[in-house]
Amino acid sequence: MRGKVIGDILVLKKEVKDPETLLEIPGVNRVVKLGRIRGKTRQPEVTVLVGEGTETIHKENHCLFKLDVSKIMWSKGNTTERKRIAELVEEREIVVDLFAGIGYFSIPMAVHSQAEKIYSLEINPTAFNYLCQNITLNQVDNVIEPIMGDCRDSAPYGVADRVLMGYIGNTHHYLDVALNTLKEEGGVIHYHESVPDKFKFTRPVDRIKEAAGDREVKIMNKKIIKKYSPGVYHVVVDAWIK
Ligand SMILES: C[S@@+](CC[C@H](N)C(=O)[O-])C[C@H]1O[C@@H](n2cnc3c(N)ncnc32)[C@H](O)[C@@H]1O
Repeated sequence: MRGKVIGDILVLKKEVKDPETLLEIPGVNRVVKLGRIRGKTRQPEVTVLVGEGTETIHKENHCLFKLDVSKIMWSKGNTTERKRIAELVEEREIVVDLFAGIGYFSIPMAVHSQAEKIYSLEINPTAFNYLCQNITLNQVDNVIEPIMGDCRDSAPYGVADRVLMGYIGNTHHYLDVALNTLKEEGGVIHYHESVPDKFKFTRPVDRIKEAAGDREVKIMNKKIIKKYSPGVYHVVVDAWIK
């Protein structure tokens, strides 16, 4: 059986013969099958095999994430990264999460750090709605300010100690947005990219340096998050830029 448990829902990658038998797995009340994930908003195609409804509350690292598995993606492979980022944030930091989704990074940062403010931008109205609900569920309304819209138009200017770019697609097209979001005295960007093995770290680092132009850049960390597809990795590069 290949699948993952999100909240009380077992999400399968392939159809199985007797999905009802899977209710024996502790904590599983419903079973669905996941199809392809489409487009910029990363919406999955889902068929319900056992039970009713596709909305659930997933718990991870003492955080609650309400989501509808038929509308929103949840990547188990990003668990370690969500934890790592939350641990990096220092007291009184201003953070901007340019691709917040339902709060994948914003919620753990708000719950586990002493950040002063986290601006969380999200373009997809469905994800934004869950982001707002998750802020309330986790009682972090005083820390996170959700902003609905394209980060290119709506990101705050010159405020951030730290910028999250947790989106893989054409993330490099938004490096200028991230740089404009940073404080003049400098800050850190966490830049995600899906890259063929051959250019695993060279391409993301080159893209950051190119976007930074004359600015000072220090590469602080390079990390594989997970295998994205055959021969392609989801990587993150932490760069301090002034
Ligand atoms: C797929 S999520 C990231 C997943 C997450 N890193 C995790 O831990 O699972 C990325 C989000 O960025 C949003 N997004 C894409 N382009 C955007 C843009 N230009 N401005 C704001 N949000 C955007 C998508 O709607 C999506 O919710």
